Formats: sequence, C-alpha cells, structure tokens
Amino acid sequence: MANAYDAAYRRSMDDPSGFWADAAAGIDWTRKWDKVLDDTNPPFYRWFTGGELNTCFNCLDRHVAAGRGAQAALIYHSPVTGGSKRTYSYKTLLDEVAKTAGALKAEGVQKGDRVVIYMPMIPEAAIAMLSCARLGAIHSVVFGGFASNELAVRIDDAKPKVIMSATCGIEVNRVLPYIPLLDGAINMAKHKPDACLIFKRPELDGQVTATKHVDWTSAVAKAQPAECVAVKATDPLYILYTSGTTGEPKGVVRDNGGHAVALKWSMKNIYDIDPGDVFWAASDVGWVVGHSYIVYAPLLHGATTVMFEGKPVGTPDPGAFWRVISEHGVKALFTAPTAFRAIKKEDPNATQLKKYDLSRFKMLFLAGERTDPDTLEWAQSNLGVPVVDHWWQTETGWAIATNCMGLHRFPIKPGSPTKPAPGWNVQVLDEETHQPVKAGTIGAICVKLPMPPSSLQTLWNADQRYLDAYINPFPGYYKTADAGMYDDEGYIYIMARTDDIINVAGHRLSTGGMEEVLASHPDVAECAVIGVADLMKGQLPFGFLVLKDGVKKEPDVVVSDVVKLVRERIGPVAAFKQAVVVKRLPKTRSGKILRGTMQKIADNEAWKMPATIDDPVILDEITVALEGAGYGKSRQT
Ligand code: COA
Ligand code: AMP
Repeated sequence: MANAYDAAYRRSMDDPSGFWADAAAGIDWTRKWDKVLDDTNPPFYRWFTGGELNTCFNCLDRHVAAGRGAQAALIYHSPVTGGSKRTYSYKTLLDEVAKTAGALKAEGVQKGDRVVIYMPMIPEAAIAMLSCARLGAIHSVVFGGFASNELAVRIDDAKPKVIMSATCGIEVNRVLPYIPLLDGAINMAKHKPDACLIFKRPELDGQVTATKHVDWTSAVAKAQPAECVAVKATDPLYILYTSGTTGEPKGVVRDNGGHAVALKWSMKNIYDIDPGDVFWAASDVGWVVGHSYIVYAPLLHGATTVMFEGKPVGTPDPGAFWRVISEHGVKALFTAPTAFRAIKKEDPNATQLKKYDLSRFKMLFLAGERTDPDTLEWAQSNLGVPVVDHWWQTETGWAIATNCMGLHRFPIKPGSPTKPAPGWNVQVLDEETHQPVKAGTIGAICVKLPMPPSSLQTLWNADQRYLDAYINPFPGYYKTADAGMYDDEGYIYIMARTDDIINVAGHRLSTGGMEEVLASHPDVAECAVIGVADLMKGQLPFGFLVLKDGVKKEPDVVVSDVVKLVRERIGPVAAFKQAVVVKRLPKTRSGKILRGTMQKIADNEAWKMPATIDDPVILDEITVALEGAGYGKSRQT
C-alpha cells in the first residue's frame, strides 16, 4: 500500500487542481477562485485566479478571531542586545501591524505600491512585512549585510514609495549604523522614495534628521489602525532580489494566493508542525527562508515563530542555539549547515548541549547548501533527532525536495535531500538532448511546468529575463541551475550549480557580480572570481587579477583595494577577502576563462588539462599562486 507521501505525491501529479484546491481550504478567502490552475498563458501559469484574500489577515486577524489572540505569535530573542527577549501574542502583533500599516497609509502607501525594507533582525522587520501585506503593498526586503550600492540597485528596480529601516544593526558586538548606508543608497539611486520610516533602536538612538526621514515610533503612535485590503490571489505579495549571473540581481515575484496555500500546507506536511507549536528558522528576514519560515508560514499556520538576533557562535557562546530551543520550547529548528559547522568547530564534543533540556525539540531542518555527511552525522548523533536536509531556492519559496516529516518519514541518506515534495515534478535532464537521464547519471535538474503554488511568477518588470534565465534553456521546464542525479530508489542528490553562483555560509552570491566590481578597479585589466572550498562556510570567493601594463603599484596594494571595493559595493556578506595577482588567466582558444579548472586546482581535486586550453603553462603559475595562498597541491590526471 502506498504511504501518505506516495499518495500525496501521486495525486499532486495526476490531479494538481484537486490537490491544491484541498490545500486552499486552509486559507480564508474573501472571494473564492474561479480556477485553481490557470494555464491559459503558458509558461506564465497562475494559481487561484479570480480568488481574493489578504495574507496578513490569514497570518493574524483570523487567529485572533478564532480565539488564539493570547497565544505567542512571535518570540524575539536577542543575545546581541544583552539578552533582550520579547513575546508578541497574536493580539499584540495584530495591533502593532495594524497601526504600522496605518502609518504607511498616512505616508500614502496603497495597494500595489512598493515598500523597501532594510532592517536588522528585530520584530519590527516582520511587522513591516505584515503591514505591507495588510495594505496590499508589495514589500521588498533587502538583507542588512548588503552595501549602499546593492540597496540602490534594488531601489531603482522596485521604485518604492517608502523605505522602512532602523538606525542600526548589530553584528555580534559591533553596532552598524544604517542611516549612512541608506542615505548613500538613496543618493546613488535615480528613484527617490517619498519617505523613509526609521525605527530608532536604543543602541543607536541617533537623530533622524534628513528631511525624508520619519520617526517610526511616533508615526505609529499617531496612526489609525488600518484594515486589511483584499487583493487578487495573483497580485504580488513581495519582490525578493537574488543573485543572478551578473551584478544585476533578479527580482523574484511571489503572489499572495499560491504562496499562502503552499506555505500553510508545508507546515504540517513537511515540518510536522501543529498550530501552537514553536518553530524557529534561524535565518534572516533578508533571505527567502526568513520570508517563508520566520514570518509567513508559521503565522499562516497559527504556530509560534522565533526571531533570533545573534549568531550560532560568539553570541556569546556555541550554546546559543540550545539555549533558545530549551527556553522557548522549540519543536523544530531550520537553519543552514554552515551554522552547525560553526558550532561543531567551537564545541566539537557538544558539551554546551548537555547543559540544556531539549526534550521538546523533535527535528532539525537544514537548507541553503548541501548538508555534508559529517555535519549531518554530528548533528544527528548529538541531538538524537531526525536531521532533514532539504533543497530549495529563492525562486521556489519552499522546499523542492525534502523528507516530508508530516507525511512519511523515509530513511535518511546522507548527502541527499530525499525526494521531490508533492507538486514538484523534478527531472534530471541531459544538457544536450533535454531528455531525462537514467538513475545514477548526473544531469541538469529541471522542474516540469507548471510548478506548484508559491513558485516565482516572473521577475519584476523583466518577463523576458525570466524566460531567458529559467524557461527557454529547457522548453517546458524550469531550469534550477543545479546539477545532480537520482539514485535507483528515487532519492535526489544536488551536487553543484551550473552557473557562476557560489554559496558562502548559506548565502547565495554571484561571482560574476564580484568580477564586475574587480574589473572596475583602474589598475585591473582582467579578472576572475571562483568559489574555493571552505570547511566552515562551504565556499569562499577567491579572485585572480591581471594588472594593466605599466601599473607600478605593489600587487598587495591592488589586492587590498579590490577587497575594500567589494565590501563597499556588494557588502560584507560577500566575504571577499582573498585575491592574487597573476600575469595571465588560463583560457580556452576561444577566450573562455577556465574557472572550473582553477577551482579544481584550488580545492586539490583531480583535474584534466582542458583540450582546448590556449596556453597550458599559465596553469603552472595559477597553481603556484594558489599554493602561496594556502590552496592547491593538485595532481594532474
Ligand atoms: N548586517 C551587516 N553585516 C552583516 C550582516 C547584516 N545583517 N550579516 C552578516 N554581516 C557581515 C558580518 O559581520 C561579516 O562581516 P566581517 O567580514 O566584518 O566579519 C560578514 O558580513 C560575513 O557574515 P557571515 O556570513 O554571517 O559570516 P560570520 O563569520 O559573521 O558568521 C556563520 C558565520 C556561519 C556563523 C553565519 O554565517 C551563520 O550563522 N550562518 C547561518 C546561515 C544563515 O543564516 N543562512 C541563511 C539562509 S538559511
Ligand atoms: P537560495 O536561492 O539563496 O536559497 O539558494 C539556492 C541554491 O542553494 C540552490 O540552487 C542550491 O544550489 C543551493 N541549495 C539550497 N539548499 C540546498 C540543499 N539542501 N542541498 C544542496 N544545495 C542546496
């Protein structure tokens, strides 16, 4: 007999409309949809057309109306501010959100307007997102670790009416003033917002002086609570920018209806969470995991979400995660493997863990990068709970492949995120023929269209870029840009990106974007950036610079210039700290830089001399340079 996962998966393939119509019963609609799956304009598929709802109403109002008002909705736990803790019940969170939405309305924000949110991990960040959803405005959250230039690019693309921000973020023990970054971005951007709502934090209660800045707290105090505005299921809820293959980020557009349905469904079926349970996604609201699993999904489901402003280590010790889990009775934690590698490095015997009562903790979910078997084994043996690697992307908004803990618990195979989640028709295709390959053979991982609810609708104002990046390469499919394979039991393995994206501490970064910054240095003639393996962060960027003829500066000076430049233009999150100056870059005869070969040399992997290489001698110089930087010792096969 089929288990519950097999049955659900089969039905989601055979009868997607029936499957998702059932799931949609978990959401309150102000108008029922006319069509569950609207396939009238492929490849732009839409879910629940004709339906209307409000996402904030589904996250807050309906739970209060149903008697859940006193239950904790959001717990804020902040070791970086000396241990601040605050719990918002559903009722208090609703009141805050309604008033903050009122303050936005007073600034003229209406349905369809964009609002950029540039915030640290404080409850006001979630309140800002929900306030936009309440008004039917489209939020675009920008991660605090991005510099002014990245913020400016997003401001120019999204054209926000208002920006919501705070006076500072806090990184471990450093207070990072946000206003200079924000003002810098607004100065750089062509588009100017009408106003900036600034939340004054006690850690930096500096004056908010610039003319366009409005004090958040007093604006909210003066505001009338705003009611929910019903929007179409297909109207955008948010734009989230993610790294593309150039410095120009892609604005992933998520709808309201499909998003609410899929995320609500995922809470029980994937995460085995019931309303009232405590769920903690240790990520940041600036990433998709933060959108989906710090803010929207737990609240849509009536669970309690934890918002943690700290790091797995150093705030103040590697016991931080266990402290939060035990204090708040967390049932499931979702984070990136890099966080566990950081804890394992500082506390290899998990001595901190033994100090806490983790009896209510039942599951660990990891994503953002492949969970390496060592980390999986360490977490599993020390925590004594299932450790679930699951695979997803900003574009998809929820897991494409996972072990669905609420449906059927498959045996875990280290290195695999188990099987496609219901709704996802995942195929491994041959790059040339576009035909599915056999189990055990690596190919391009693609999703057969239509994708399930909550996957991206398009890129903001860039339908053609959406088609070119995701749909045209494999007609009839969405290209994930990940390569991997199935095994003969239907488990999937995600092995590598097929583009220039690297994954640094669970953060997705474009080496192409970094190369654009390096190339802008006046002394640099040519450059390349690759991702080299790093025990803690998974990968780190590494740059190669060829200087212009006649440059007299010491190579080290140019290297430190470009390191500074990447930090200024992209931000500290890029973690770009290493580069070497070389005479030439290895290329094919047609001029393509051999980044893959350089990466293999750096990681000490076996590599073959590319048949099309222009001048093999260059690789000797690259090898020496990498060894000088502590990488390499490659062998040639
Ligand atoms: N605002 C400003 N700066 C930020 C920032 C923010 N929100 N987030 C990170 N930075 C800075 C850091 O201070 C650091 O700067 P530095 O070079 O001056 O030290 C740099 O960006 C890199 O940050 P990070 O990648 O977080 O590295 P780290 O060494 O500080 O911490 C980990 C490493 C593994 C502990 C940390 O990355 C982590 O906890 N990761 C969890 C994974 C995660 O959240 N993934 C998201 C997807 S699930
Ligand atoms: P992001 O859009 O930031 O979520 O990054 C998505 C990319 O991260 C994917 O395309 C993968 O390359 C990688 N990724 C995320 N989760 C996993 C996982 N569980 N296993 C392997 N790679 C992953």
